[in-house]
Amino acid sequence: MAMAAASALAVGAAVVVANSASAAESTLGAAAAQSGRYFGAAITVGKLNDNTYTTILNREFNSVTAENEMKINATEPNQNQFNFTNGDRIVNWGLSRGWKVRGHTLAWHSQQPAWMERMEGSALRSAMLNHVTRVASYYRGKIHSWDVVNEAFADGNSGGRRDSNLQRTGNDWIEAAFRAARAADPEAKLCYNDYNTDNWTWAKTQAVYRMVQDFKQRGVPIDCVGFQSHFNSGSPYNSNYRTTLSSFAALGVDVQITELDIEGSGATQANTYRNVVNDCLAVARCNGITVWGVRDCDSWRSGGTPLLFECNGNKKQAYNSTLEALNSATPQPTTPGPTTPGPTTPGPTTPPPTTPPPTTPPPGGSGCSATVSLNQWNGGFVASVRVTAGSSAINSWAVTMNIPSGASVTNTWNAQASGSTGSVRFANVSYNGRVNAGQTTEFGFQGTGSGSGMSPTCTAG
Ligand code: G3I
Repeated sequence: MAMAAASALAVGAAVVVANSASAAESTLGAAAAQSGRYFGAAITVGKLNDNTYTTILNREFNSVTAENEMKINATEPNQNQFNFTNGDRIVNWGLSRGWKVRGHTLAWHSQQPAWMERMEGSALRSAMLNHVTRVASYYRGKIHSWDVVNEAFADGNSGGRRDSNLQRTGNDWIEAAFRAARAADPEAKLCYNDYNTDNWTWAKTQAVYRMVQDFKQRGVPIDCVGFQSHFNSGSPYNSNYRTTLSSFAALGVDVQITELDIEGSGATQANTYRNVVNDCLAVARCNGITVWGVRDCDSWRSGGTPLLFECNGNKKQAYNSTLEALNSATPQPTTPGPTTPGPTTPGPTTPPPTTPPPTTPPPGGSGCSATVSLNQWNGGFVASVRVTAGSSAINSWAVTMNIPSGASVTNTWNAQASGSTGSVRFANVSYNGRVNAGQTTEFGFQGTGSGSGMSPTCTAG
């Protein structure tokens, strides 16, 4: 017995020496954490009492995404009636274990509840912004990254947007959603998430790239891009994937692999998983990887056996190559410089932006100041208001705004509004009254009519 223990110890020691660059970890989450990344899975409440499933989940992963439970039809089944029961189970499963939780998804053409599917125009724009605001506010402070907008671009070579009821509310619906999400949860990273955007030469990839570049240039609050990476023969992994990740990262956003699955089996599948992991590891701003399910039989594409575990819980060859690749990461990842555009479609035409999004300098004296930025469409608007403390910390604040005639405030977040028309006073809520000298806090409101010409006055308490 003692001899066996001693020789086991000797084998362990040899492993440590062989991997002196970084100690080999034995689970995906721990291995990814060595380079500051997460390794997550999409999970579903229906499986949380399956012991094989939860054993793998709790052992291997350190991040989760709700596969379906935080989609629009799940969280707002009837207009303005929100249901967070299942979403909470998943969020709490992750948070109680100290994991990162990805939020999926706030605005999407698919999985809309029937009431939303029937809507168009400014009523839909308002309903969408209300949904983004309410759901992101409910989970405020709990979500590492939100897929704010999902799958808004068309497949194929058009390089344009996907037609949908949301798109028909106006081309600015994506940025409107991002602004509402930022106001509702200022700490979460806000991502645009899509599929068929992995291959750098594809028109869809280039179209999303141009949107992100434009958002960064104009100060639209976007922090990350999610690459779903559902690979199969119709949308295969390509070795230019690393170029895609690094090119987006060079725009000044994080990149995340959000829904990874790779159809196939054996060494071929294992090799592709290895390549994907290595590509993420090569890009400093690639924060982490999420696989879209735990075992093959949990997958939306179960016939393609695209995941890392067999149904009985056994590890697949792809698991081993993934773990090995994660363990090969150096603690400090390196970023390759900006890359050149793909050969068949026009790439970026302008260099990455050099001007940061506009910020408000702290006012000279004590007290506070406020600025407003507007996101308008025909018939409505969202106002984001930034409150900045002066040379001393403040413990409370109130901002008064003159709402233009014909306009009306319908919905406020991170502040308490008195009135809805004419002169409206927005006072801090319990958690954001204190603002340190020179620091800022934000609140927002949604209105009908035109919000042009509002000028805020800030009073500190
Ligand atoms: O739970 C009901 C069940 O009660 C009912 O009997 C059955 C009848 O159809 O439906 C079940 O719900 C299904 C649900 O998955 C849970 O299995 C829905 O119909 C089905 O539409 C839903 O599919 C999901 C799909 O998104 C559509 O929302 C998949 O599970 C989910 O993996 C997939 O995930 C998407 C990402 O959100 C976005 N990117 C692509 C990815 C794969 O399609």
